[in-house]
Order: sequence, then C-alpha cells, then structure tokens
Amino acid sequence: MNSRNSLELDSRKTTTYDCFVLNLPRIENRAGNITPIENFKQIPFEIKRVYYLYDVPGGETRGGHAHKRLHQLIIAASGSFDVLLYDGRNNKIVNLNRPYLGLYVAPGLWRELINFSSGSISLVLASDLYDESDYIRNYNFFKKYKE
Ligand code: TYD
Repeated sequence: MNSRNSLELDSRKTTTYDCFVLNLPRIENRAGNITPIENFKQIPFEIKRVYYLYDVPGGETRGGHAHKRLHQLIIAASGSFDVLLYDGRNNKIVNLNRPYLGLYVAPGLWRELINFSSGSISLVLASDLYDESDYIRNYNFFKKYKE
C-alpha cells in the first residue's frame, strides 16, 4: 500500500473503486482478541482524529455527506451496519460486521451509514481534525462537484 499516492487523490475524480476493505491484524487469545492500528502501518493516511458513533436508533441513517479532503477508515467495532458509497456515477454497499475489518473511504465520496444493528458501534479513524468547511452536505452540489 502506498500511503503517499492515496493522500494525493483528487477528490473530484475519486470513485468507489478507490475504497477497499482492509483486514486488520488480529491478536487472538481465548480470553479475548486485540486489533492494533498504528499510523501508516495498516492504513494509508496519518490518523489525526478518532470518533465513534453509538446509540443509533433502529432505522436511522447517518452520514449523508461527502468530504473534500478527509480520508477515513470505518470499522464496526461492535455489531454491524452497511456503508453506502456513491461517486456521482456508481454506488457500492459494504456491510461491516467484524471488528477486524476496516473500510477505507477516499475523499470525494458521498456516504450513508444504514441498517445499524442494535448496540452497534461505528469507530472512525480520520486523517484530519473536524472541519465543517471540508463537508459537502448538499447532494445536488455533490453531483455537480463530481461532474
Ligand atoms: P456529522 O459528521 O454530520 O455526523 P454523521 O455523519 O455521523 O451523521 O456530525 C454530526 C455533528 O457532530 C455535527 O454538528 C458536527 C459534529 N461533529 C464534531 O463536532 N466533531 C466530529 O469529529 C464529528 C465527526 C462531528
């Protein structure tokens, strides 16, 4: 994996094919498992922020936006949910249901998180601090951005 190439992606041109599911390391023990994630070692960007989404009521949708520069790795730390990705032309739906799987989401993709199982936790590693100006929250604007 070449982290520098990934960070140079042009977010107007990215597609769902720039996203992929990573098998994260697993240290297995009969008393419980560990998945470690270290900067650049397992994922193609430097982690500057971590957040997690929890207590999502049944039937709710999260996301519903794109980012201009932000790279993310989304992990179902507990339970399961689906991530719907859209690049202006193609859709892709990825089901995350194991804490050792991480979905790399490139910048410039519309995403929605749906079908949360009860008690699920979505852990997100992000390449930058929170910045509202990095969001595209208007779907029509997003489609124009990707033309
Ligand atoms: P948002 O990213 O829109 O949530 P989601 O994509 O999960 O539906 O964020 C919801 C609110 O939380 C919004 O007001 C911004 C705020 N927020 C922060 O202040 N810091 C963060 O790191 C994140 C992810 C959100």
